[in-house]
Amino acid sequence: MIRVGILISGGGSNMDRLITAMQAEKFALPAIVISNKAGAGGLAKAAAHSVPSTTIPHGDFAERAAFETAIDTALRDAKVDLICLAGFMRVLSAEFLLKWPDQVFNIHPSLLPKYRGLNTHQRALDAGEARHGCTVHIVVPELDAGPILGQSEVPVMADDTADTLAARVLVAEHQLYPQCLQQYCDRLSSKT
Ligand code: GRF
Repeated sequence: MIRVGILISGGGSNMDRLITAMQAEKFALPAIVISNKAGAGGLAKAAAHSVPSTTIPHGDFAERAAFETAIDTALRDAKVDLICLAGFMRVLSAEFLLKWPDQVFNIHPSLLPKYRGLNTHQRALDAGEARHGCTVHIVVPELDAGPILGQSEVPVMADDTADTLAARVLVAEHQLYPQCLQQYCDRLSSKT
């Protein structure tokens, strides 16, 4: 069974959907949740699903390399095959990613390659976009630039604010991320 590690920083609603899908469809096993923030809402959700979790606060480490080594060790101890970033608000270095080639996925709240980085919803509104959405992609050292596994579009409404648009995109994220992970795991399993 493919073992998935999930990295979070916050509420973990995407993490919650990933775990729910894995537990229901049994295409992979949620092996561990790691938060870089103590008390992140996602930690309680992981516990509610009986998924082991740990907190590795980035502020406890003088250097990023040491923080990433601690994450790498926790993932390897949990025998993880794939890593899903789900609202994980730290950039992973090229050195870390080299150790996990094509094994780190992310969900980004825009239709990449548009709006890499932060504040994607406001930027889409400012640009007068009629369509916005989210992208699941493989993580590479260049920010939000890796191969795309799937995208989901939502309409932009005339009276949208960044918050209403974000809420509409989040609903799409919750469907897209589990779907992309399942497709990827099914492909991996059919090759072995
Ligand atoms: C999501 O919009 C995700 O795309 C972005 O951060 C948000 C995380 O939300 N990277 P949650 O923690 O999954 O609820």
